Amino acid sequence: MEPTDGSDAPRGPVAVIGAGLTGASWAGLYAAAGLEVRLHDVDLKRLEAAVERAAAAAGFLAGSGLADLQTAERGVELLTGIADLAAAVAGVTHVQECVREDLAIKREVFAAVSAAAPADALICSSSSGLSISDIQTAATGPERCLAAHPYNPPHLVPLVELAPGALTSPEAMDRAMDFYTSVGKESVKLTRDLPGYLANRLSAALWREAVDLVLRGVATASDVDKAMSFGPGLRWAAMGPHLLYDLGGGEEGICGHLEHLAGVKEGMLRDLATWTTFPPETGEALARGHAAGKGSRSYDELVAERDALLVAYLRARRDQAAR
Ligand SMILES: NC(=O)c1ccc[n+]([C@@H]2O[C@H](COP(=O)([O-])OP(=O)(O)OC[C@H]3O[C@@H](n4cnc5c(N)ncnc54)[C@H](O)[C@@H]3O)[C@@H](O)[C@H]2O)c1
Repeated sequence: MEPTDGSDAPRGPVAVIGAGLTGASWAGLYAAAGLEVRLHDVDLKRLEAAVERAAAAAGFLAGSGLADLQTAERGVELLTGIADLAAAVAGVTHVQECVREDLAIKREVFAAVSAAAPADALICSSSSGLSISDIQTAATGPERCLAAHPYNPPHLVPLVELAPGALTSPEAMDRAMDFYTSVGKESVKLTRDLPGYLANRLSAALWREAVDLVLRGVATASDVDKAMSFGPGLRWAAMGPHLLYDLGGGEEGICGHLEHLAGVKEGMLRDLATWTTFPPETGEALARGHAAGKGSRSYDELVAERDALLVAYLRARRDQAAR
């Protein structure tokens, strides 16, 4: 299969191991990119349902204008659920592991996958919290194993964080970067594997303060969300904090910004939350605070609204880049 983006990245077949929430979504993205995708799971009911969900995700991308319709249709035709692990990974160039977040299971899967897949296939773990260094030592050829952590749902949110384990080769990191770029992901490469990678650490730091503002009674949960959506969240989605603060310094850039505002920011930093255990009242306080923001919208309606806004934003970004 030829790359659609002009890169030299290998174009499948790819195997997705573990057909839950994350695996079905990855499979949908790969199918939408026209790759031959083999989904595998030990639970055959889940596997069957995941093939349908993956096809639906590919259809959603094409229907939203985020993927080429003919390419996605070709990918969906090639999408299969395979109960036998060795058959699922035979001849693949890329494996996306998405099994349950359990070190023993991941190690078992990495051992089995690496024994059955071609020796040069990349093996990427979607793990959110386990160390790829701990997982990869179970594999044959641990240098081709790395963490490729998505943001859910991976078929819609572009970010993937690539982190090496102690034994990962720089070449595997480069190949992974090319592969994910070829299927439309926005990849960031970390120099090492650390808890929360990059994006979840940023989210955790911000969320702690968002929770604390509610617990201190400074604002409701809905108003904190509103402030983020219509303020920093909007700007940070456009450019990210470093470039934005650089712009905030005008012609003098970030150094000018710091010269004028470091003292003010330090005053805020001294007042920020520093706790590392969630106060026991957090769940109830947030649930109470959310009630007003949710209104009468159901879970499904809220998900559809979120996805529609994400699609609109991604299309706007794509159109802006094309200008
Ligand atoms: N859910 C998220 O928001 C999210 C986000 C980013 C990354 N991740 C990561 O993705 C991975 C999967 O998470 P999920 O939420 O999709 O979980 P999930 O529970 O929805 O799916 C896990 C699947 O793994 C299957 N499985 C278990 N053992 C297996 C084995 N030995 N071989 C094959 N399949 C096996 C299960 O049957 C299940 O279908 C985890 O490592 C998680 O940290 C999840």
